[in-house]
Amino acid sequence: MSEFILKLSNISKSFGGVKVLENVSFDVEKGSRHALIGPNGAGKTTLFNVISGIHDPEKGTVYFKGKDLRGVPSRKRIHKGLSRSFQNIRLMPHLSVLENVMLGQHSRIDFVDMFKPLDFLSKSSGKGEAIETLKSFGIDLHKGQTVSSLPYGIRKKIEVVRALMAKPSLLLLDEPAAGLNTAETKKLRDFLKEVSRRGITLLLVDHDMPFVNSLCNQVSVMNFGQLIYDGPISELKNDRKVLEAYLGSENNLEGSNA
Ligand SMILES: Nc1ncnc2c1ncn2[C@@H]1O[C@H](COP(=O)(O)OP(=O)(O)OP(=O)(O)O)[C@@H](O)[C@H]1O
Ligand SMILES: [Mg+2]
Repeated sequence: MSEFILKLSNISKSFGGVKVLENVSFDVEKGSRHALIGPNGAGKTTLFNVISGIHDPEKGTVYFKGKDLRGVPSRKRIHKGLSRSFQNIRLMPHLSVLENVMLGQHSRIDFVDMFKPLDFLSKSSGKGEAIETLKSFGIDLHKGQTVSSLPYGIRKKIEVVRALMAKPSLLLLDEPAAGLNTAETKKLRDFLKEVSRRGITLLLVDHDMPFVNSLCNQVSVMNFGQLIYDGPISELKNDRKVLEAYLGSENNLEGSNA
């Protein structure tokens, strides 16, 4: 039997009378790398906002690890193991890599730790943990540099590491590969495969199909607020509704599994 970490049941949401999500239901299996795709404006980010508690749905239920999340505020969802990154980078540009990553620990650590010199800290402290995590993913501390001075590809990775500092069991990523070149995208894919190997379930939105195809095993497709496909990524290209949705769209479904 499959175990589901996330269950979405009949989620609906409108803005100013316009339906943006309409009865969206799908499940995310524990340990999977699950993609959520669809043309621009399909409702993907809105669905992420509902899952992470930024928006309340008008109808429907989000279950995380079998529990109904209704009424659970965003911050508490992070503590329960549901963390996310944003479509636009939300790092603090004037802070260092380490400081940005430590912000992802939220209230798990004593905030005062952040300002202590390294030598005074044990490995188990928040700062030590942040350094170890960055190192284990091959990210240099870029000592003394503020995040704003670093290349875009590195900033994207730092944004993911920051979300990981909350020790999530499910990580939501909204367009992690957007704006990256081919080499940076491959590095990000390998990095996310490593994250997945460590037991973290991934649910990610992206328009880059080669990236999605080479990373994910399951996919849900949305169009105009409705779910039009949910299943293995291998069958996606044979689905009539999906092909129709992407016809004439700027994004296409092409992309190898290499
Ligand atoms: N806070 C809001 N107020 C009003 N309308 C909104 C709001 N957020 C999203 N929308 C509208 O909801 C629809 C879905 O937007 P959403 O950002 O969820 O799409 P998306 O699938 O993430 O698109 P993209 O691929 O371009 O990021 C769009 O028509 C958008 O204009
Ligand atoms: Mg979006």
